[in-house]
Amino acid sequence: MDSDVTERLFADDAGIARAAALLAAGESVAFPTETVYGLGADARNGAAVARVYAAKGRPAFNPLIVHVADLRAARQLVHFTDQAERLAAEFWPGPLTLVLPLREGHGIASIVTAGLPTLGVRVPAGDAAQALLRAFGGPVAAPSANPSGRISPTTADHVLDGLSGRIAAVLDGGACGVGIESTIVGEDPGGAPVLLRPGGVASEAIEAALATPLTRPVAGDLPSAPGQLASHYAPRAAVRLNAQEAREGELLLGFGAVRGDMSLSETGDPQEAAARLFDMLHRLDTTGRPIAVAPIPETGLGAALNDRLRRAAAPRDS
Ligand code: TXA
Ligand code: MG
Repeated sequence: MDSDVTERLFADDAGIARAAALLAAGESVAFPTETVYGLGADARNGAAVARVYAAKGRPAFNPLIVHVADLRAARQLVHFTDQAERLAAEFWPGPLTLVLPLREGHGIASIVTAGLPTLGVRVPAGDAAQALLRAFGGPVAAPSANPSGRISPTTADHVLDGLSGRIAAVLDGGACGVGIESTIVGEDPGGAPVLLRPGGVASEAIEAALATPLTRPVAGDLPSAPGQLASHYAPRAAVRLNAQEAREGELLLGFGAVRGDMSLSETGDPQEAAARLFDMLHRLDTTGRPIAVAPIPETGLGAALNDRLRRAAAPRDS
């Protein structure tokens, strides 16, 4: 059942306790992580998870990431390979999702994985996320807390703009520090690590930790990250990439030497740009004017930024 009024909870002890109680009661609750706000539900409760899909208008073939408080909890859900152990040790808690084979008796509702034999799992950093996961004491399935296909939320206000009245509550923990979704790493049938989605951990850092290059999924070799639809993260207005200057009517989102109407990072720092990207897209989106974006180098978090921007600029179905 969708709630008519969405509660706004502050991330103090009382707010965390209330959010955990709502999750336990099968409600959907948005909460901050270090990457973006997630829309959480008890991952063992299929009806609760169905409410998340309904609130977002998300296609049910697109599986969700499960969030747990620590590695010990993750081990109860999935089988860890040696390289997954290494990545978890290096990057958890943090913006990395590992896609690994489900264990027997995992207890995760099948709607979470869309029937896949694997699970995307991560241990988020961030005090509010950690406090909520510990207070709730179970696995929380959570996609980004935005209507499907729209810009991801990095503040509680963004969440309410998109989902107010459709979810039970939002836990307000301020702005997300990383600002872009987690990097998703899986394994191919031969066990080689595959980059399923660039994100908050630079792929170069993962390759360094594994001392192995990451491969990219081969088209047709899906489901890899089925959520990687071409048009995604889309503002209402048109988006044009690699712009040096604004054309008639456009607002220019700058980077480095390209100043623009607002800048993702005047110093050309991709990490700062990641933390600002979705908030700036949300703000530009309220103007209804077409958006031009300055070029961003493809290194480090630049790869994740460009991935999100290409999807924001892709042709829309409707
Ligand atoms: O930073 C994040 O990852 C945020 C926060 C809330 O944790 N979550 C997030 O979730 O970005 P979402 O649903 O917007 O993106 C999840 C992605 C989708 O592209 C989905 O297809 C992929 O993860 N995914 C989930 N489970 C998978 C699996 N078993 N195999 C392959 N891809 C999977
Ligand atoms: Mg999303």
